[in-house]
Amino acid sequence: MMGIKNNFQLLWLISTILLLFIIVLVNGISIANLKNNEIKFHKSQNEIKNNKLNVTYDGRSLIINGERKLLISGSVHYPRTSEEMWPIILKQSKDAGIDMIETYIFWNIHQPNSPSEYYFEGNANITKFLDLCQEYGLLVNLRIGPYVCAEWTYGGFPIWLKEIPNIIYRDYNQQWMNEMSIWMEFVVKYLGDYFAPNGGPIVLAQVENEYGWLEEEYGINGSEYAKWSIDFALNLNIGIPWIMCQQNNIENAIDTCNGYYCHDWIQGHWEQFPDQPSFWTENWIGWFENWGQAKPKRPVQDMLFSNARFIAYGGSLINYYMWFGGTNFGRTSGGPWIITSYDYDAPLDEFGQPNEPKFSLSSKFHQVLHSIEQDLLNNPPPKSPIFLSQVTEVHQYGSNLSFITNYGTGPSADIVQWMNQTITIQPWSVLIIYNNQILFDTSFIPPNTLFNNNTINNFKPIKNIIQSIVEISDFNLNINNYNNDYYSESSSSDNNVISISPIEQLFITKDTSDYCWYITNVTTTSSSYNDKGNLFLTISEFYDYVHVFIDNDYQGSASSPSLCQLQLKPKDNSTTFQLQILSMTIGLENYAAHMENYTRGILGSVLVGSQNITNNQWLMKSGLVGENVKIYNNNDENNNNWIKTSESSSSSSSSTLIQTPLTWYKLNISLNGLPNDIGSTVYALNMSSMNKGMIWVNGYSIGRYWLIEATQSVCNESIVTNYIGEYDPSDYRIDCNQPSQSIYSVPIDWLFNNDYSNQYATIIIIEELNGDPNQIQLLSNKIIN
Ligand code: GAL
Repeated sequence: MMGIKNNFQLLWLISTILLLFIIVLVNGISIANLKNNEIKFHKSQNEIKNNKLNVTYDGRSLIINGERKLLISGSVHYPRTSEEMWPIILKQSKDAGIDMIETYIFWNIHQPNSPSEYYFEGNANITKFLDLCQEYGLLVNLRIGPYVCAEWTYGGFPIWLKEIPNIIYRDYNQQWMNEMSIWMEFVVKYLGDYFAPNGGPIVLAQVENEYGWLEEEYGINGSEYAKWSIDFALNLNIGIPWIMCQQNNIENAIDTCNGYYCHDWIQGHWEQFPDQPSFWTENWIGWFENWGQAKPKRPVQDMLFSNARFIAYGGSLINYYMWFGGTNFGRTSGGPWIITSYDYDAPLDEFGQPNEPKFSLSSKFHQVLHSIEQDLLNNPPPKSPIFLSQVTEVHQYGSNLSFITNYGTGPSADIVQWMNQTITIQPWSVLIIYNNQILFDTSFIPPNTLFNNNTINNFKPIKNIIQSIVEISDFNLNINNYNNDYYSESSSSDNNVISISPIEQLFITKDTSDYCWYITNVTTTSSSYNDKGNLFLTISEFYDYVHVFIDNDYQGSASSPSLCQLQLKPKDNSTTFQLQILSMTIGLENYAAHMENYTRGILGSVLVGSQNITNNQWLMKSGLVGENVKIYNNNDENNNNWIKTSESSSSSSSSTLIQTPLTWYKLNISLNGLPNDIGSTVYALNMSSMNKGMIWVNGYSIGRYWLIEATQSVCNESIVTNYIGEYDPSDYRIDCNQPSQSIYSVPIDWLFNNDYSNQYATIIIIEELNGDPNQIQLLSNKIIN
């Protein structure tokens, strides 16, 4: 017996050891794969999650636990604000009658560097964001994509996808479909508990994004891929409906509409898909802004008119794109040329403050819609409207509820008879009438309405907070392995590539930096000079922007798509010099077919006069030296690196600063006595004294800044008392002939570095051209709501 027991114990011991070994091995593999070993496949922490939902739909609406829903949704993209601002934004959204938050998931913030590394910290912590949505009683529409557009750099694609041989993104291409499958399977597993049938807030999911608009460019493969996408998504079995926006050739995903107006899309949609509800996934209630443009505004009356009209025609989900736009922090803005602010003229402005009167009037509108939800959803939408005049039509729901629309653009109101009443209706407006009472008039702005059209004008500078400024030229930052300075053509290394002719920039930088140096030694010949004896540099094709130096002396800058033609002035008319071209991207393309072919930097020929130097042998370097040593992190190691190229102190005046191109500045600022009441005070930097570069506050990247002026010279103020006619974003702008952006949002938690007792903050700036950092101001504003 004893022997048997001992044998049994031995066997048990061996099998346990084996099992442990296998567990370690398996975990070892998975940890190695998921370098960030904090990856958890979430089990809900949250008790509210016991609330499992059954989500279906029919031709009228989404149905949750058997109940029809009229859904008012708002786009809030989690990485476009800081983590601590999420509750502030979400609470205000809920209070304004928003039922659902729409967000994309941004692949390239979660896997920026490689397919085996994951990042979910800070404002990339999507599970925390989803927990908060649920806590505030908000449902979620998760747009997985993986393509997102969204004015987000490279449409959300991680740059490493480019390196996969023979990949064709968004195509019926094995390499692409493999990568898309791996990412989507991961997302679905990672967010498993957040889907409604498991007790989470996500009730809708989106695959792809507006593929229907580009499908033709992919030929027959395009439709194969669209079909594959939805089949693949359905096989993920997440138990909620999938949508595909602007995709009307697919049966088993809900096709949805995006645009400024979508009421006239509904009829065709129902003819094709009578069993699908009519959802408007993007009502563009404002627009984004490019460097060199003035601020787009969409009049509130038109926004409400378009929403009310969509509901009148039978829509049951409207989404404000954007409800809160926020900021393109770091290098996340797409483009090229999208500015750092993503304010979008949304009802909650870039800082999370109510943008009035959009915020209050839309809140009132949501209240009215919710009050008539049952009448709307329990009566079939009218097949066609009743015409009361040439320009006025009625949509009636049951006997009590009607939407009267005057879509005329003439100057005067229409007078019509409806239900034994005489009704005066303004042009380009909708009246919502219940039991003969006007509940809402989309053209009416009550006399006591608060207007804060441009809140940044209300921000006040905080006095005397700069304690000290130190600086260093990037040319002088020859640290550690960067000893081979810009002059030496050393052998190729990670940051350093030598080739006969210029190589496209993304191959060199892997998009870890905006900047890429193209350096070559030039000996002029007689063909280099024009008849006046001058040297001109011509670059026939380059993207997006270049600063040109010779022997560290700035010569000038040029912007694509025009030809670069700059005069070069070598010191002492020297016939040999080093030509140093700093090429830079300003946001990667976010909307185009075949983005795998996207290239930047110097792509054409380079000439000095008629001397062709394209095959002159070039040294290419990724990033600025300061970026490569992460000087913006302000840690001790970096502190030793700061070399004061001139003495600066709190008393420094502009003249003591070197103000040459490519200078890093470090500003120590005092936070002593500053309000730290999150949700009540917001902060920003006024960068009007600077020119072009990037900003970090306590190591957080605030984004690119640039003082480039809006070229539009005719502005049309958005506050129009009688708005009429179809909206076009180029017609409604404010702040013409001013910089596109000079004020940059600094989230309060980043300013205080997550410790509200902090007395100091550090601002680090790379200024590419010249500026006066002494004049940089910290501004603050009190949120009024
Ligand atoms: C849509 C796209 C959005 C956003 C919008 C413009 O076409 O789906 O992600 O880019 O345009 O702001």
